[in-house]
Amino acid sequence: MKVLVHNDEPKRWQEALAARLPEAEIFTSAAPAAKRREADYLAAWKPPASLLSELVALKGIVNLGAGVDALLNNPELPAGVPIVKLRDAGMAEPIGDYVRYGLLHFQRDFDRYRRQQHAREWREHTMCDKADWPVGVLGLGAIGARVATMIAADGFPVHGWCRSPKRLDDITCHHGDNGLEALLSQVKSLVLLLPDTPVTRHIINARTLALLPEGASLINPGRGTLIDEAALLDALGASTVEGRLRGAVLDAFPEEPLPETSPLWSHPRVWITPHMAGPTPLEVALDQVVSALRAFEAGEPLETVDPGAGY
Ligand code: GLV
Repeated sequence: MKVLVHNDEPKRWQEALAARLPEAEIFTSAAPAAKRREADYLAAWKPPASLLSELVALKGIVNLGAGVDALLNNPELPAGVPIVKLRDAGMAEPIGDYVRYGLLHFQRDFDRYRRQQHAREWREHTMCDKADWPVGVLGLGAIGARVATMIAADGFPVHGWCRSPKRLDDITCHHGDNGLEALLSQVKSLVLLLPDTPVTRHIINARTLALLPEGASLINPGRGTLIDEAALLDALGASTVEGRLRGAVLDAFPEEPLPETSPLWSHPRVWITPHMAGPTPLEVALDQVVSALRAFEAGEPLETVDPGAGY
């Protein structure tokens, strides 16, 4: 089989895949155009449209990330070619830690203590116990379900939400529009781990933000498009004085890098990180890529992406 690799570290991936798949010919998008056109499989993260348009012989695509939004929105994505994506692949654990950090930030009042430090103010707040700090996790896919389970094990009551009914130990699962409203009305922190699809775009908007209890906080290690930014800024209010929304810890943005002109950069109650919540360990990702390529080649059944659903 001939596999074309395209991501930020194509050489490293080419070598690692070649070592694990001696039967395959692995090349990168730096190969001559005639070679690229021969590719049976593409293993890629955010391939450019110009590359996809050349790949006329593709039998399968392995998305080198969990989110398939960039791939599905690519105008040159060939129709009917099956797509496999990374599932968890070691990302859920660091994303869970990112969420833990965000939760403790608000539950232990680090945001307030930081502001007090600037004012040299020594004042202790009454601690709200974790057991009294319900957390909502929107999205219960491979990553969302694992993160929800991690933070439930930490002692937070966890409510999870996804489109269709789901059961998870120790998580109160909700689904559908009514389920979303029920969840929003009772959580102190809301965590976003949904895929970016036409249905989830701006799921956090003026209406849904208004359903959150006064003083709730938002943690988004998912996708930037889930949030209507104007509505977020409105709910936060402009100053250091806590608004209806207490604060937001954000790792994902509709445009990345976040433009220098974004008002989010300087908002005193917004914490920004550069899409670093879930780095993918090479070894785990390689295992999944190699088994996907072997299964494609052997014609074995594979869990593929549903382009209609967007994940
Ligand atoms: C990263 O954002 C991913 O989707 O893997």
